Amino acid sequence: MIALRYHEQTKHHFHRFARSLGYLDWATQPDPFRRYPGAELVELPRERLAGSVRYPALFDGTAPAAPLTQVAIGEFLRCSVGLSAWKQYGASRWALRVNPSSGNLHPTETYVLTDRRVWHYAPREHALEERAVLDAGGWDGWIGAPAPAFLVALASIHWREAWKYGERAFRYCQHDAGHALGALRLAAALLGWRLALLPRWSDGQLAAVLGLDRDRDFGAAEREEPECVAAVTPGDPSLWADRDPAPLVDAARQASWRGTANHLSARHVPWPIIDEVAAATRYPGIPPSPLRGFGGASPRTIAPRTVAPSHQHDLSARAIILQRRSALAFDAASGLSREALLVMLRRLRPEGPPWDAIDWPPQVHLALFVHRVEDLEPGVYAYLRDPAVLPEWKAAMRQEFLWHRVNDPNGPNDPNDPNGLFLLAPADCRRLANRVSCDQDIAEDGFFSLGMIARLESSLLQRGEWFYRRLFWECGLIGQVLYLEAETTGGRATGIGCFYDDPVHEVLGLTGHAWQSLYHFSMGVPVEDVRLTSEPGYEWEATKPMKTR
Ligand SMILES: Cc1cc2nc3c(=O)[nH]c(=O)nc-3n(C[C@H](O)[C@H](O)[C@H](O)COP(=O)(O)O)c2cc1C
Repeated sequence: MIALRYHEQTKHHFHRFARSLGYLDWATQPDPFRRYPGAELVELPRERLAGSVRYPALFDGTAPAAPLTQVAIGEFLRCSVGLSAWKQYGASRWALRVNPSSGNLHPTETYVLTDRRVWHYAPREHALEERAVLDAGGWDGWIGAPAPAFLVALASIHWREAWKYGERAFRYCQHDAGHALGALRLAAALLGWRLALLPRWSDGQLAAVLGLDRDRDFGAAEREEPECVAAVTPGDPSLWADRDPAPLVDAARQASWRGTANHLSARHVPWPIIDEVAAATRYPGIPPSPLRGFGGASPRTIAPRTVAPSHQHDLSARAIILQRRSALAFDAASGLSREALLVMLRRLRPEGPPWDAIDWPPQVHLALFVHRVEDLEPGVYAYLRDPAVLPEWKAAMRQEFLWHRVNDPNGPNDPNDPNGLFLLAPADCRRLANRVSCDQDIAEDGFFSLGMIARLESSLLQRGEWFYRRLFWECGLIGQVLYLEAETTGGRATGIGCFYDDPVHEVLGLTGHAWQSLYHFSMGVPVEDVRLTSEPGYEWEATKPMKTR
């Protein structure tokens, strides 16, 4: 299986990192902004719509639904994939975005289909580039009239990540796509909308509708790999889940397209294994069948729940979304309350947003290195996002692990409700966490760090190699939730894509490819780098000087 071979080949080992150039070739550093010169650029409205929505509404779906207007779509994109800040150090100036990205390289491009048009989002300008106008019959017939929905789609430019990370870059592109999907789902919740992936569309169909397969529009410019498409609506997105995209593909093929992709780098280094794994993991879609009814892959119904510590109700959801950043270092001293940890873990259970964006049950669970959580013994813990995994994990992991349940006194139903958190081994595991996360202090100096452990081999065998990408998306969704949760505690988080794969498995006693760590993560109280200056993402949002972060 190519995905497994790729995975194995791109592991970091103590004695050898996955293959990359080994140095940064600044002469070929990619332009972080894709543009389509020749396509009309339409500025999005700049109004703040959702300032009064409270943070818990992101997860319980209770924000009032905004009408689907240009203003609301502008707010949706601003609060998911827009710019969050401009940073400067000496002569270097760079943008950060609402969605995080490995190395801040941002391989993920966003498209919107609305108003019969295929739009590419230009985050620097907060504007839409009009790539194509679809014929009225094709679009209106497909979306339904009056159109109570629009589509949002993601694509990856592998070169952006490969420039720095070489062969491991495909993994990072998929993490980033997962983060972006999470950011989009939670921005939809901010506006009282729902968002769900459309399972019928093959990646080939998506490429056609987004114009990504149009050789003449790219020439020698870096290609974009289609990732996913979702329906966004104040109503029920499952209404679009079963619609055959073929009429939209036909409409896109007949449309006249505008713009040609800009070149991001003057030269490229080929990484053939990335092209191979990309081809092997393309999603084949679900062919039309007269017997299929609606709802085969419909998102779960949102069951409102109250699990947050009371202060979360006072926080502005929009402010938390826009203030999210990665910590560069933690203070190696501050602790997290046990209640806050349990609340954030419960947010990872597959109920409500952002989990209703995807249509598969949890395949990723957590191995935590707990360092500084009040009333919780330091040590290695497991958090099961699906309790049914318990016997499998017990059998797969070290036999000496304790599997002592950590009770959640704020469980929603029963004070003794098992919360899925288990102590495996009490220990001071700060050095261990640092070591396995590529010797990074952020894995040691915070409240905790963790590995996201995915059911790899059997899920690919059962579903197909295309599911490899989705496992990383699930990790990105987990990371996106934890990034926001960290901000609500006054702390900060950082995704960790660099870790030594097999040493992590060895710590847990995992062998073979059944369970593999796909992403690491850390959280703590950040130490700011005071040498950096910070400006707002958009000059029109500068009301007063920003605090340096
Ligand atoms: C998939 C992924 C992997 C990352 N890996 C690391 C890492 O190994 N070490 C690190 O210090 N930061 C890591 N980061 C943090 C990024 O460098 C950070 O997101 C990026 O610089 C943008 O900054 P921001 O998150 O503040 O917007 C990672 C982020 C993501 C999304």
